[in-house]
Amino acid sequence: MSNILIIYSTTDGHTLEICRYLQKVIEKDAHQVQLISVNDWSSHDLNQFDKIIVGASIRYGKHSAQIYRFVRKNKQLLDSKLSAFFSVNVVARKPEKNKPDTNPYLKKFLKQIDWKPKELAVFAGRLDYPSYSYWDRQIIRFIMLITKGPTARDTIVEYTNWQDVESFGIRISRM
Ligand SMILES: Cc1cc2nc3c(=O)[nH]c(=O)nc-3n(C[C@H](O)[C@H](O)[C@H](O)COP(=O)(O)O)c2cc1C
Repeated sequence: MSNILIIYSTTDGHTLEICRYLQKVIEKDAHQVQLISVNDWSSHDLNQFDKIIVGASIRYGKHSAQIYRFVRKNKQLLDSKLSAFFSVNVVARKPEKNKPDTNPYLKKFLKQIDWKPKELAVFAGRLDYPSYSYWDRQIIRFIMLITKGPTARDTIVEYTNWQDVESFGIRISRM
């Protein structure tokens, strides 16, 4: 049995939902999983974990600054464990951009950061226009217009392929 940590960064909760799904999949394999927000990691002893998974969503083209900080501050620790990273974004709704080597955000992240996770994944996220502030909604609708996505103001759509999330969970269990 492994003791597995998932560090997550979320704004609207979808990455956390993916983490909870991963937790269920991994715990079925008799491992123990703990979820910790990237804002709270410093109050935990990270040495107790055998594997560390990091998951983060994209907002206006970037993973959160806290994720970069977490990886940089814990580089040695991450290198000494089995580790994995996944990114959540809506560009990944496009089949030609939904793999670690074809998703622009994941590729950019790996170039910027001195860390080579053993497993990588990209998951398409969720759009929920009614829950966004006026300007966020206008900007995302404009981006969607350019990228041929939905623009109706009442659109709520979840693009996540939960089977892909399950496969990633199984890979983590077995790595
Ligand atoms: C204000 C805002 C900006 C976003 N910017 C991007 C972006 O630049 N590229 C992208 O692919 N997705 C973008 N998204 C989509 C999010 O990555 C997607 O909604 C994801 O599910 C959010 O996950 P979270 O709830 O864990 O933060 C954006 C969403 C919001 C609300």
